Amino acid sequence: MKIKAAVLNEMGAEAPYTNSKPLRIEDIDLQPPGPGEIMVKMAAAGLCHSDLSVINGSRPRPTPMVLGHEAAGIVEEVGDFVTDLKVGDHVVMVFVPSCGHCLPCCEGRPALCEPGAESNNAGTLISGGSRLSRNEESVSHHLGVSAFAEYATMSRNSVIKIDKDLPLDQAALFGCAVLTGVGAVVNTGKVEPGSTVAVVGLGGVGLASILGARLSGASRIVAVDLDDSKLALAKELGATDCFNARSPDCVGEIREATQGGVNYAFELAGAVPALETAYNVTRRGGTTVTAGLPHPDKRFALAPVSLVAEERTLKGSYIGTSVPMRDIPRYISLFRQGRLPVDRLLTGHLKLENINEGFDLMAQGKAVRQVITF
Ligand SMILES: NC(=O)c1ccc[n+]([C@@H]2O[C@H](COP(=O)([O-])OP(=O)(O)OC[C@H]3O[C@@H](n4cnc5c(N)ncnc54)[C@H](O)[C@@H]3O)[C@@H](O)[C@H]2O)c1
Ligand SMILES: [Zn+2]
Ligand SMILES: [Zn+2]
Repeated sequence: MKIKAAVLNEMGAEAPYTNSKPLRIEDIDLQPPGPGEIMVKMAAAGLCHSDLSVINGSRPRPTPMVLGHEAAGIVEEVGDFVTDLKVGDHVVMVFVPSCGHCLPCCEGRPALCEPGAESNNAGTLISGGSRLSRNEESVSHHLGVSAFAEYATMSRNSVIKIDKDLPLDQAALFGCAVLTGVGAVVNTGKVEPGSTVAVVGLGGVGLASILGARLSGASRIVAVDLDDSKLALAKELGATDCFNARSPDCVGEIREATQGGVNYAFELAGAVPALETAYNVTRRGGTTVTAGLPHPDKRFALAPVSLVAEERTLKGSYIGTSVPMRDIPRYISLFRQGRLPVDRLLTGHLKLENINEGFDLMAQGKAVRQVITF
């Protein structure tokens, strides 16, 4: 069937995107779900920096591609052998489909699913190939989802069913910002009550980490960004101390305020200087967690002796080391209790036609999470 979608035809456009228009709204073809697949009518799709990184070429992917991976919608059609979902069910999309039988899946680490990573890199579904095309030319999927479109066909394993009373614009955020940001704190870092935390980079993902740190009972939550308005929001969400990374001695100031650094520092900016800040504000014996995704050519220099003599740990975190089937229902339950105010991360609603403007706002650091509603 014909659907309206925002298509990225090539990477590397110059900002402002309202002029260069890297995403074009086009009518393209979507195939119905094959075995083990579903079609979702999109309700809400969030703009994440990982989409922007494909647009600007920091995260190279095959084009043409329909971007979008943080989303929620309603099941429109189910393919053969899908027995646990039905038309009308509400679902949140997860940006790594998991096969359930590769080694990482069997080790309880579906975020590292090998066929899932392979198909995501190739721009296909985990079940093989693409269900999107334009004049017979295949169009790639983004992270098994491609949510910047009226409808999407995807693997059943790319979604988690949710209750129907959760507003779908808020639900979308659980699929990426919340899973990644809260998961980095609770699953990757395993922050304990009373410990001290720093979060460097306060977009949707970093602010979700602030919420995660508060939920974990951190005694100090140090927020770091280049933008004072992000720091102000972090303070409202539970940060105890705020520092602007533009200050010439930001690291020194944080180390002094925290008597030698924090137990856990999180990098959620996607920039090497932010990782340097996070590493340098981690105290002796502490853990630095990095979840940002800089261009694969970027390098981070570190003195190995600091890892050894200070018994430091440096960990990567992909989708917050999550088990989405376990974690999304947990986070939604905490949200309903008011203990994880995810709605505070939602700063704007857009129409699909205005998607380039949304990415300008993100590139300028002026938005937290903006959601396209259909
Ligand atoms: N690991 C994962 O599974 C995963 C999932 C989603 C997103 N990501 C990545 O996480 C990063 C953040 O995503 P987002 O959507 O929240 O981005 P965003 O653009 O909304 O926010 C990034 C924030 O970092 C700040 N920043 C940039 N450089 C900084 C510096 N040197 N020091 C301090 N702050 C700095 C910016 O001002 C901005 O507020 C991106 O790299 C994205 O690709 C990773
Ligand atoms: Zn994302
Ligand atoms: Zn797997």
